[in-house]
Amino acid sequence: RAARHKARIYSLNREAARFFHRCLKSPAGASGYEYLKDRGLSDATITTYGLGFAPDSWDSLREFLRSKGYTQEEMLDAAVVSRSSKGHVYDKFRNRVIFPIIDLKGSVVGFGGRVLDDSKPKYLNTDDTPVFKKSRNLFSLNFAKGKTNGRLILAEGYMDVISIYAAGFENVVATLGTALTEEQARLMSKYAEEVVIAYDSDGPGQAATHRAINLLGAAGLSVKVLRMEGAKDPDEYIKTFGAKRFEILLNHASDMIAYELAQVKSRVDMKTDMGKIEYVKRCAYILSEIDDPLSREVYAATVAREAGIPAETVMTQLSAVLSKKR
Ligand code: UTP
Ligand code: MN
Ligand code: MN
Ligand code: MN
Ligand code: MN
Repeated sequence: RAARHKARIYSLNREAARFFHRCLKSPAGASGYEYLKDRGLSDATITTYGLGFAPDSWDSLREFLRSKGYTQEEMLDAAVVSRSSKGHVYDKFRNRVIFPIIDLKGSVVGFGGRVLDDSKPKYLNTDDTPVFKKSRNLFSLNFAKGKTNGRLILAEGYMDVISIYAAGFENVVATLGTALTEEQARLMSKYAEEVVIAYDSDGPGQAATHRAINLLGAAGLSVKVLRMEGAKDPDEYIKTFGAKRFEILLNHASDMIAYELAQVKSRVDMKTDMGKIEYVKRCAYILSEIDDPLSREVYAATVAREAGIPAETVMTQLSAVLSKKR
């Protein structure tokens, strides 16, 4: 019975995706189509990702699914409709462009929906359902899985993934509006040995990068970090500087230690002695986390060079940290 129920939810989701996609291409979806075009998406990309539009209506999807024989309970279980406190059931996604979420078997398991303006919340995502666990899925892994060549790019958002893909890098995935989970890290390790983190360059993106470095590393992945300047996320970067420049960034992604050391550097004032001391102290902690003594020494030399002090001084500081840890 549970299997049959799941099968109904899969087929309901498929119908809903078709409905949204048809809307995008109909006069009722003109604003959504125009929005995606303004953001530079081609018809080919829209088709590949099966993008859609949810009309500005409380019941158009509900009515459509009803006409296809789905019950209200099935719609609620698929989480494409919501129930108000007064018991009214209404379409969850309204007046939003729709990003279908597809699992590894090619089934539609959920949706992301973005507003066309600056209103909040910017994105809505399908809640967990019998066929969808947000923490276990990665957006676009269905496309990326056969194309990794051992390497996956990890971005924050739907539009980042789509822009990176359209720029020619199909090995890209994103978490679905949540922080990266252990399960997602493990999932990535099934398809790649290396992950290049390409999160947003803002504060939240940097914090998420720091977290992701640890999680991906713990899953046995080799981790690199893309360092973007002049754009807040990969989508904007590619739009501003083009695919070629993005490829150069990819090929120059920092290893995770170099990234963390650079992060420290960007947060202190290296023009002052106090700043340099702070820099060396904080870097010594980062170096103390490295198991391999040779690597420790190589990075210590980098830190020393940046601070303009002898490498032995950094090594002394590092020894002090290490002995405190023991
Ligand atoms: P961002 O705020 O960085 O948005 O959120 P974005 O992807 O750059 O969106 P655009 O370019 O303005 O369209 C990154 C991701 O976090 C999730 C979405 O998956 C989004 O792509 N998110 C963000 C939500 O789930 N809900 C929100 O309200 C905002
Ligand atoms: Mn962001
Ligand atoms: Mn974010
Ligand atoms: Mn963006
Ligand atoms: Mn962003």
